[in-house]
Amino acid sequence: TVIMVSISPIIALFTAVQSCPANCKFCPTDLVDCEQVFSLQEGHGIPVMTKKILLRKGNFTIIPERTFRAFSKLQVLSISDFPLYSLANQSFATDEVSSLEMLDLSNNQLTSCWVEASSLSGLQNLKELTLTNNALTSLKKCWFSDLVKLEKLIISINKITYLPPRLFDNLAQLTQLQVASNQIRYISTDTFYGLYLLRELDLSENTIIFINKDAFNPLHKLEKLYLFKNKLAMLPDISQSTKVLQLNDNLWMCTCDLVHSIRKLKDQIENPDALFCDSPEELQERQILDIEGDIC
Ligand SMILES: *[C@@H]1O[C@H](CO)[C@@H](O)[C@H](O)[C@H]1NC(C)=O
Ligand SMILES: *[C@@H]1O[C@H](CO)[C@@H](O)[C@H](O)[C@H]1NC(C)=O
Repeated sequence: TVIMVSISPIIALFTAVQSCPANCKFCPTDLVDCEQVFSLQEGHGIPVMTKKILLRKGNFTIIPERTFRAFSKLQVLSISDFPLYSLANQSFATDEVSSLEMLDLSNNQLTSCWVEASSLSGLQNLKELTLTNNALTSLKKCWFSDLVKLEKLIISINKITYLPPRLFDNLAQLTQLQVASNQIRYISTDTFYGLYLLRELDLSENTIIFINKDAFNPLHKLEKLYLFKNKLAMLPDISQSTKVLQLNDNLWMCTCDLVHSIRKLKDQIENPDALFCDSPEELQERQILDIEGDIC
């Protein structure tokens, strides 16, 4: 028995080290970290009980159907810095119930028409989805239909021009939505329908010229709203719950209405003295908080 006790850990370690694929490290810990990955076939040979997988750099362009089917213990998956443009149907779905809570696909080249309708299906435990810095031009409601537990959705730095009405209405648990640094031009009434728990919304650094007056009405719990660096001339209705509001670098049209709204929101607005009129011409570059007497 003395021999058995002393040898078995060595055997265990040896098999585990053996099972770590080329260019990967940390097997058999809960985290497997791989660089220069050229193929995802057979899950790249990564042990199927792994809880966290990070894949960085390499040349695969597509995640084939059910690539991660055997990885039902996987909680965190990050795939970034690939020329990856396409997700097949059920790319991440598992044979048993999926444990995946965080999926990070940032810094790839995902293209809207090559992300299949059911590519994210089966991820009913997913809490956080990051798609930052890809080439998405539009978002489709069907991508999100299984993500009923999603709390955080980050789609900043893409080329999205428009968010269709009720796009997010399956995401009843969503608390944080970041769509900064895209090319959105306007926001219609029902865009945020169903996001009753949303606390943070980042629409900064787009080219938004107009937001429907009622667009933010469904957001009863909204606390932080970022609208800076857009082309807004008018302000939509802002919910009472909002505590932090960033409005700088827009093209504010200084009507009496706007001046009143800004005054009313003064305590919520971060740095309200940095808000300037863009029009009418005679008020250009005047501080909004400084002109009440001039126009009202
Ligand atoms: C990726 O790189 C590997 C190794 O350099 C090469 O064998 C393979 O053909 C490449 N695959 C693609 C899709 O370019
Ligand atoms: C992906 O699934 C959708 C249904 O969810 C189906 O309409 C579509 O044809 C599938 N795509 C492929 C390439 O199989």
